[in-house]
Amino acid sequence: MHPHRSRTRPALLAGALALATVAAVGLGFARPGPADAATTLKALADAKGRDIGVAIDPNRLNESAYRQIADAEFNLVVAENAMKWDATEPNRGQFTFTQGDAVASYAAAGGKRLYGHTLVWHSQLPGWVSGLSATELRQAMLDHIAGVAGHYRGKVAAWDVVNEAFADGGSGGRRDSIFQQRLGDGWIEEAFRAARAADPAAKLCINDYSTDGVNAKSTAIYNLVRDFKARGVPIDCVGFQAHLIVGQVPGDLQSNLQRFADLGVDVRITELDIRMPTPPSAANLATQAADYRKVVSACLAVTRCAGVTTWGITDRYSWIPDVFPGQGAALIWDENYAPKPAYQAVVEALGGTVTPTPTTPTPTTPPPGDGCTVTYVPNSWNTGFTAEVRVRNDGASAINGWTVGFTFGAGQRITNAWNATVTQSGTQVSARNASWNGSVPAGGTLSFGFQGTHGGSNPAPTGFTLNGSACRTG
Ligand code: XIL
Repeated sequence: MHPHRSRTRPALLAGALALATVAAVGLGFARPGPADAATTLKALADAKGRDIGVAIDPNRLNESAYRQIADAEFNLVVAENAMKWDATEPNRGQFTFTQGDAVASYAAAGGKRLYGHTLVWHSQLPGWVSGLSATELRQAMLDHIAGVAGHYRGKVAAWDVVNEAFADGGSGGRRDSIFQQRLGDGWIEEAFRAARAADPAAKLCINDYSTDGVNAKSTAIYNLVRDFKARGVPIDCVGFQAHLIVGQVPGDLQSNLQRFADLGVDVRITELDIRMPTPPSAANLATQAADYRKVVSACLAVTRCAGVTTWGITDRYSWIPDVFPGQGAALIWDENYAPKPAYQAVVEALGGTVTPTPTTPTPTTPPPGDGCTVTYVPNSWNTGFTAEVRVRNDGASAINGWTVGFTFGAGQRITNAWNATVTQSGTQVSARNASWNGSVPAGGTLSFGFQGTHGGSNPAPTGFTLNGSACRTG
């Protein structure tokens, strides 16, 4: 469950991505103590009694970095696709739960809550649905809900019963979906009643996008919830997808969540990601961090906000570039699983502390043919930290294959790394190039990063070497 446990299981880290491995050489590693555990999003959210969730693809769970982050950082999971209609009932009356069950058993094994997504949605429907008459479609919808919510009965904390049922723009009306066209306005109520019957313990949610602020679409859902509550139609929660654009978190997000909560339902952020043009600029990554902080803080400020779920772990597998060409970098770990500024912002928003990054002096360029220059950029919080190491090849010729050495002075332990294979023995650390970054031209710079733990003080390591020769510190 905890990332630092991985120190006792180095084999798990030998990932398909040739990501860094951290071998426990020499000293045995103790199990992490409670202060150590407090460095994860999961521990921070647990302490606040909120969900910190993530959408997962069960087929990625055998990828070590993906698995470690899912294990350590989240207390709720949702299937990104595996419980949708096309995945669970590809032919009428034939249910396939293999993928969905993989998500459910992963949640159960790790003691994580399971969120259900989604029972009725106009998208990712199997082809057979489109040919049905109104009577057949109604029955198919009710059978689908009974089949899927019934299968997961007692296992799901909450279901997105109905997804994206409302129209974009200012109309405040329903989306012109097959359900709306053939079944009329009553279909949402019928779906919720069927879901309650199939799994009486699951909370039942309506979920949508572009409803994060107060606008015609969110008000249409607000009116539906108010009507359901007045008439005793079962509904327990409203999901706000929050597929956002960098710099555009609605200023009234918190008050919008609060107005729904005041109707007597839970609210939650269900699919958070914050996209930007790719490749990401440092300025946009900083704005994105502030945006993530705003979203998490808005949820925490609303008592009935159950939590925040991000729509994936890593930018490597985010749905955004496929659907919004030229956009991406929307999640809190980058394509190499390095935590982004947004990760630190979520830590802070959840009550963890991050010490400011020390400013790094601009290195003066040494004459050619003279060794290497190191820039070390740490980012620390409580008892955890990440650091980026940049080493410039100041020599007159290119390097093919590198090993960077250094020494920690305060008991720091590296737990995972990226863009290098990192081994630690006692205080000594050795970082070897990955398959793709071994060549560094004369005057070029290599870089890698890692995440680790410290005992409260986190001085920069010393004694940097590049292929055995001492480097100066920039
Ligand atoms: C997306 C998935 O992330 C993609 O893998 C899939 O190809 C399409 O669906 N709103 C939702 C989610 O409710 O189910 C969508 O997920 C993203 C938008």
